[in-house]
Amino acid sequence: MSQFDVVVIGAGPGGYIAAIRAAQLGFKTACIDAGVNKAGDAPALGGTCLNVGCIPSKALLQSSEHFHAAQHDFAAHGITVGEVKFDAAKMIERKDGIVTKLTGGIKFLFQKNKVTSLFGTASFVGKNGDFWQLEVDDRGEKTTVEGKHIIVATGSTPRPLPLVDIDNVNVLDNEGALNLTEVPAKLGVIGAGVIGLEMGSVWNRVGSEVTILEASPVFLAAADQQIAKEAFKYFTREQGLKIELGVKLNKITSGEKVTVEFTTAKGEAQTAEFDKLIVAIGRVPNTHGLNAEAVGLQKDDRGFIVVDGECRTNLPNVWAIGDVVRGPMLAHKASDEGVAVAERIAGQKPHLDFNTIPWVIYTDPEIAWVGKTEEQLKAEGVEYKKGTSGFAANGRAMGLGKAKGTVKILADAKTDRILGVHMIGPMVSELITEGVVGMEFSASSEDIARIVHAHPTLSEVVHEAALAVDKRALHG
Ligand code: FAD
Ligand code: NAI
Repeated sequence: MSQFDVVVIGAGPGGYIAAIRAAQLGFKTACIDAGVNKAGDAPALGGTCLNVGCIPSKALLQSSEHFHAAQHDFAAHGITVGEVKFDAAKMIERKDGIVTKLTGGIKFLFQKNKVTSLFGTASFVGKNGDFWQLEVDDRGEKTTVEGKHIIVATGSTPRPLPLVDIDNVNVLDNEGALNLTEVPAKLGVIGAGVIGLEMGSVWNRVGSEVTILEASPVFLAAADQQIAKEAFKYFTREQGLKIELGVKLNKITSGEKVTVEFTTAKGEAQTAEFDKLIVAIGRVPNTHGLNAEAVGLQKDDRGFIVVDGECRTNLPNVWAIGDVVRGPMLAHKASDEGVAVAERIAGQKPHLDFNTIPWVIYTDPEIAWVGKTEEQLKAEGVEYKKGTSGFAANGRAMGLGKAKGTVKILADAKTDRILGVHMIGPMVSELITEGVVGMEFSASSEDIARIVHAHPTLSEVVHEAALAVDKRALHG
């Protein structure tokens, strides 16, 4: 029987990072993961993020953006290309190559850091003195592994829609949406959340007619509504995505085509027919197979493992991190919780500020934010001032051919401390880090305003927004 100081269950961005950090801190560490590759014939580390989430979706977003640019943007640069053709299968092949490289990279990192990597489904058995006992089921072959500390990082799975079964042929979850080898003429998407918008954008750019049906009457309710409204305008008016808000789904039938019957926000009954339908209505915590009941590991009524602010469960030395616990379902949140837990096990006192976890949506233009939205500040009765600046007059954005979007900085009315930074525009996935660093260091908007920003850069828009908080924008 193998005994370890730390056993991590799950090798997604939460689990694999926790395992590496634990090993770096001198613990004898194992990481057990049940993930398999696309073909289903070999283990694949990296969890949702690397296999069927963050990484493959960004690869497709880039490919589709290039295709769109070749068709619509090159001419303005004086570049003439012949007939631009699109090969969906080739795009998927490229994406698969990136996934294979990165998942293999984790294997290498485990070897380098002396993390024992075990394949199989881990479930709780009980306790043996100070050690928690786990059973590892590798396709029927069962072994027992013991760990003084267990870190549960089993992630999440797509939320099912009771109206229809996902077959990943006609009705797709994120896995199917990332593997279409032909462009569907008509694509339906249920849910205008992050996956719906990113995947809808990919297939829209390469020629699908995309309709997104969203239950909420508010578009991107978690985002600052000034930014969300601007995004809605670009997506619908300029890019031709059809986004129907406030719908109620009534019936979905999947045959040769997928038929969706729904009621619009105005109460009209409508039927839409699609070649493929993506269902992206959120994700649910994955505790399947853990046998949590055997040891009394507590879950809440939505299935999340209950943890305190430091990722401790109700059981001694059992921790849980990432999508399987409360908080945003984001890879970087999972990873940072993993690092923090490993350091806590080592007796260190790390701190993770949930208010400074950035969000990014990789549409074009991109959307990114950190901290409070204007709506949240109003609801909390916080007095604030704001500064906004646009990319329209920014020289670098013009050169890139992406001169649209806005940066908004919200600061405390009295102290000037930055409370939130909201962006829509080119590469704001990168620009948001300035807001994160600022907030982590309790910066005021004046601090950002007094920092020298290189010229010509997109970051000058952040600088201008900070100046605008004090009504002294130089280009506004
Ligand atoms: P996961 O990545 O889900 O990993 C859990 C692992 O545990 C899996 O490998 C699973 O096989 C394994 N496992 C489960 N149960 C067991 C068991 N009993 N025994 C052994 N192993 C088990 N986030 C971002 O921050 N940025 C993005 O751009 C982004 N894009 C996304 C795009 C899509 C399409 C999707 C679906 C998600 C995206 N996310 C993104 C979210 C991100 O993927 C998750 O937040 C992240 O993967 C969560 O990490 P995790 O380690 O908690 O769990
Ligand atoms: P989501 O929570 O972002 O969006 C789901 C949407 O579906 C919501 O707008 C919701 O109102 C809607 N919805 C729910 N039930 C519905 C119904 N019956 N009919 C119509 N609409 C309905 O979830 P999504 O897009 O599935 O993504 C899951 C999670 O994965 C995200 O919340 C995020 O945490 C993560 N992710 C992160 C990305 C990033 O960081 N760029 C990219 C993709 C996913």
